[in-house]
Amino acid sequence: MSYKNVITTLFVTSLVAACGDTDAPQTPTTPKVGDAPASVAAVDTQRIMNAAQEPEMWLSYGGSYDETRHSSLASINGDTIQDLGVDWVYEMDKPRGAEATPIVVDGVMYVTGSWSVVYAIDARTGKELWTYDPEVSGEDAAKGCCDVVNRGVAVHNGKVFVGVFDGRLEALDAASGEVLWSNVTVDQSKPYTITGAPRVFKNKVIIGNSGAELGVRGYVTAYNVESGDLEWRFYTVPNPNKEPDGAASDAIFAELANDSWGDTGAWTTDGGGGTAWDSIVYDTVNDQVLVGVGNGSPWNASIRDPEGDFGGAYDNLFLSSVLALDADTGAYRWHYQTTPRDQWDFTATQQMVLADLPLGENGASRRVVMQAPKNGFFYVLDARDGELLSATPFSEQNWTTGEIDENGRPVITQEAIELDNMVVVPGPTGAHNWHPMSFNPKTGLVYIPTNLALPYVYVDNDAARSAKSHWNTGYDSASAWAYEFPKGTIAYTQTLDGGSLVAWDPVAGEPAWIVPFPQAFNGGTLSTDGGLVFQGNKRGEFVAYDAETGERMWTQRLVGDAAAAPMTYELDGEQYVSVLSGWGNVSMMIYGAALEKPVTPEPGRIVTMKLGGKAELPSPLDYLVVESPKAPLVGDAETWQLGMQRFAENCQFCHGAYAISSGVIPDLRWSGISANEDSWAAIVRDGALTDNGMVGFSDIIDDEEIEAIRHYVLRQAWLAVENGTADAPEVAALGDQ
Ligand code: HEC
Repeated sequence: MSYKNVITTLFVTSLVAACGDTDAPQTPTTPKVGDAPASVAAVDTQRIMNAAQEPEMWLSYGGSYDETRHSSLASINGDTIQDLGVDWVYEMDKPRGAEATPIVVDGVMYVTGSWSVVYAIDARTGKELWTYDPEVSGEDAAKGCCDVVNRGVAVHNGKVFVGVFDGRLEALDAASGEVLWSNVTVDQSKPYTITGAPRVFKNKVIIGNSGAELGVRGYVTAYNVESGDLEWRFYTVPNPNKEPDGAASDAIFAELANDSWGDTGAWTTDGGGGTAWDSIVYDTVNDQVLVGVGNGSPWNASIRDPEGDFGGAYDNLFLSSVLALDADTGAYRWHYQTTPRDQWDFTATQQMVLADLPLGENGASRRVVMQAPKNGFFYVLDARDGELLSATPFSEQNWTTGEIDENGRPVITQEAIELDNMVVVPGPTGAHNWHPMSFNPKTGLVYIPTNLALPYVYVDNDAARSAKSHWNTGYDSASAWAYEFPKGTIAYTQTLDGGSLVAWDPVAGEPAWIVPFPQAFNGGTLSTDGGLVFQGNKRGEFVAYDAETGERMWTQRLVGDAAAAPMTYELDGEQYVSVLSGWGNVSMMIYGAALEKPVTPEPGRIVTMKLGGKAELPSPLDYLVVESPKAPLVGDAETWQLGMQRFAENCQFCHGAYAISSGVIPDLRWSGISANEDSWAAIVRDGALTDNGMVGFSDIIDDEEIEAIRHYVLRQAWLAVENGTADAPEVAALGDQ
């Protein structure tokens, strides 16, 4: 069956190693005694620049500097794919979000799991060589917006680099996992975290950070790969007093960016946001680093920077921008702002792909950077100077008219500016999130995992700003999904969840084909010369599609989902495809309500396949939770309302909207703890489970509110009984409480 032209209603409408200036030849590292092979991670800038000549490796996060995630390996193809089977499975020891793309170099796979743990694995057998656990504390774990995830490592000259959740950047010995240097890259008294993969270029390793939902000021920092010394730092939003920082960003802030912010508002106290938490790409041809910059903090622009407007006064540079920086000095080169004065959480941190497209005069080749950020436009920019070549909606969106004006600015609708109970599409989860896309130079198509998911209602809430360690967006978290207590709109939420795999033609500015899915947040993609696109999906399948037509060619069931992007490598002439399975990303935390059934806390697993692979996948864990209330209903409409409000502000980002968990973090409706006021207070007020990432909330909410949340949680439990989705408890069982 062909999916060609399955246009759903959701539409509104070669490595060039030309740069001579690279690092000096590297002395090969002398490996330490260990299980790893003699040559370990002997990667330098030149080798990554020549990645196309070594398709049997996967040398960097996006496969090459251009981050196309396309491999020229082709022995797994339309003719052979039916023989593709699981060859080995490596099980990590922790559950929670799994988002990483493995790197494979010289027979060793380096990959991260949740809690920033690094694993070195024999890529042929799946045998563990070493693991390194940076021991992120439970307290730091609670600083994250979107779980203790990590998207991967970088390797260079015998070292493996990892950005640790608590803000460290560490260099490990690739042979042993021993820490060679460790830098704290953030002010750890603030809610900074790191989830992104570092990138290496020209003897530097660069890392950004996250935290704009909670209140921080974004920046990227390049460190010397050998010494760990800071080489340059570029801030993405101004210093609160608009004074210089002594950083590479000073000049452009004085010249341009400072004036795009007013002098008052929450940005001066809460950091302004602009965190570069995912995409950072080294452009070898133009010798520059492209940085994808995140949303504003707080999201609400009228609170963040009340002096401005959407007519161009105070665009808040460099929020939601693609930023080009000189690779050696970090000096500003150019920027393109996708969402001026962002107030919808429209990050431009999504993956950037560099490619040569026939977009020059008379179809001449032009080097471009492509991005499909949260805001729903597919951008093609000239990589040399940032000129906007095209911006086309790739997903339904109602915050603009779908047009870009003559100044390259989106035409924002008045409704989306005013945000008066408007249901905005896409919502903050984005038309496309961190799940990597891939680009096949032969088909000329970009394979994007898109989301139709979860429109959002942005309702002002000034009060939310004062809290320090929880989401702090300037909007009312309880109104976000338009749920009024006690009516609830769980069914409504379920109808909104959806996504697709879009094969986007960046030259024509239209899709070639679309595979629709009932759920959002399907996995990242891998494209190969075998004419295939690989992707995991929310139904727990790992699928190969025909790259030209979207026809489903082959399916492998996984244990749990794969949200991470697959990669491929070759050893002894045999091609392997690998993917990290395990539930992942914020959607899984918040949107338990959108799942048909809760997931079990499966550990992260590297599932590696090859032709003729015959390994068995383990059986999924049993779901042992008894879904019935553990205590009688307590409270009244007033406490339930208060509890709902405080739950939405403080708890739903981990325990799930409407108190419906996705399954991995405890579902409080069915917890014995919810049945007992004292146990509840010991955990929620006093932080008895802090070491496990469940901190106490006594500094944010008072005792009465903490108890009201318990009442609300029990109310939600009994609501499920009323609705027939949970069992009434045995009377005798309740009597025991
Ligand atoms: C940053 C994520 C996060 C946030 C926010 C969070 N929790 Fe938790 N919570 C967890 C984790 C993780 C656990 C499991 C801890 C463990 O395994 O010991 C947990 C466990 C609990 C438990 C124990 C449940 C049981 O059956 O063992 C209770 C009760 C609880 N949380 C209540 C709350 C309440 C109420 C809020 C909001 C005020 C909240 N949590 C906010 C992550 C979070």
